[in-house]
Amino acid sequence: MMKKEIYLDYQASTPVDPRVLKAMLPYFVDFFGNAASVHQQGLQAKAAVEHARSQVAKLLGVEASEIIFTSGATESNNLALLGLFKAFPQKKHFITAVTEHSSVLETAAYLESQGAEFSYLAVNKMGQVNLEELKKSIRPDTLVISLMAANNEIGTLHPLKEIGQIAKEAGVFFHSDAAQAVGKIPLDLKRLGVDLLSLSSHKFYGPKGIGALYLNQDQPLLKLKPILYGGGHEKGLRSGTLNVPAIMGLGEAARLSEELIPEESKRLQNDRDQLWQDLQKEISGLKLHGSLEDRLPHNLNFSVKGLSAERMLMELKGKLALSTASACTSAQTKPSHVLKALGLSSEEMKGSLRLSLGRMTSSQELSMIVRILSETIDKHRQSV
Ligand SMILES: Cc1ncc(COP(=O)(O)O)c(C=O)c1O
Repeated sequence: MMKKEIYLDYQASTPVDPRVLKAMLPYFVDFFGNAASVHQQGLQAKAAVEHARSQVAKLLGVEASEIIFTSGATESNNLALLGLFKAFPQKKHFITAVTEHSSVLETAAYLESQGAEFSYLAVNKMGQVNLEELKKSIRPDTLVISLMAANNEIGTLHPLKEIGQIAKEAGVFFHSDAAQAVGKIPLDLKRLGVDLLSLSSHKFYGPKGIGALYLNQDQPLLKLKPILYGGGHEKGLRSGTLNVPAIMGLGEAARLSEELIPEESKRLQNDRDQLWQDLQKEISGLKLHGSLEDRLPHNLNFSVKGLSAERMLMELKGKLALSTASACTSAQTKPSHVLKALGLSSEEMKGSLRLSLGRMTSSQELSMIVRILSETIDKHRQSV
C-alpha cells in the first residue's frame, strides 16, 4: 500500500474542514437560489449569506456590514488598492514593503504605470519594517499604508497596532493583507486600527475561490471605487452573483476558527518549536529565517547548508509535502524576493524550505518528519 504523504504546506492551502463541507452542501442543491432574487429560494440564500457575513465579522471583531465578499485575497488586495486609487485621484502616494505578496506588489507595479508613486519599505534580517522609516516616508499626498499582517514565506508578523496608530495620526488609511493571519491568530480589527483588510478562506480550512475585504465604517473618509462592473452586488463594490455555498463555507470556517484559535495556535506553536529543536539536534547546518518570536505559530522557514531545496523536494515527493518558497511563486524558479530582502546569500536562498503545520497535523506525523528529513538530507549530502 502506498504511504500517505505528510502534508506540511498549510500556508499554500488547507483542506476543507469536514464541518465546513457539511455547512456548504445544502447550498448546492436544496437552497440553490440566487441571493439577489426575491422569491423564497432567493430569500433563503440571502439569509444564509448574511449569516455567514456575521460569522466572518465576529471573527474579526467588526460589524457584518463592514464585510464585502470577493473571490479571495488576490482580489481583495486589488480592490483595496485600485479602488482607493480610483476614489482619491488627488492622492498619489502609497507605502508598502518589499516583502509583500505578489498580489500587492504586482498591483503596485500596475498603479505606478497609471501615475501612482510607491515607497517600498525595506526589512531587517527578521523581516520587520522599521517604524521610524515608515513615519518618515509619509507625505502630504500619502493615501494608504499597505502592510501585510503575516508574511507567507517566513511567517513574520507586522506590529499592526503600532502601524494603525501611525496611520491614524498621519490621517492615512491602513490596509493589511491578512491572508496568512486570519483564522490563525486572533485579530481584533477595531483595536488594531486597520481600515481595510484582505482575507482568504482556503488558508483557514474553507473552500478556495472565496474571501473578503473588510472596510472600516468608523472611518468616515474611507471610500472605494469598484474594479468589477455589473449588477451592483456587495454595495456596488463587487458585482457578480454571490457564490453562496462558498460563502457558507467561509462563514463556518470563520466560526470554527474563532472557537479553535486559542487552543489550536498554542498547540501548533508548541509542536513547531519542538520540531525546530529536534531538527537542529538531528541535522547540522540549519539556519532559521526570521525570528522565532514575532512569527506565525505554524511556520518554519530555514536553509540547510549545501542543499538544493529544489532537489530535496523531488527526493521528498510522496513522503513530505513542503515548499521552497511561497506556493504562489513556486511555479517560477527565480529566487524568493522575501529571502532576498532578508539579505540571505544565494546559497542560503537555494537551500531554503518552508514548512507549515496545521489543524490536521498529528503527533504521529510530527515524529516522522525529523527522521524523513534527516535521512533525506544525509543521502543528499553524500551524493554531492
Ligand atoms: C499573503 C498572501 N496574500 C494573498 C494571497 C492570495 O490569496 P488567494 O489565494 O485567496 O488569492 C496569498 C496566497 O498565498 C497570500 O499568502
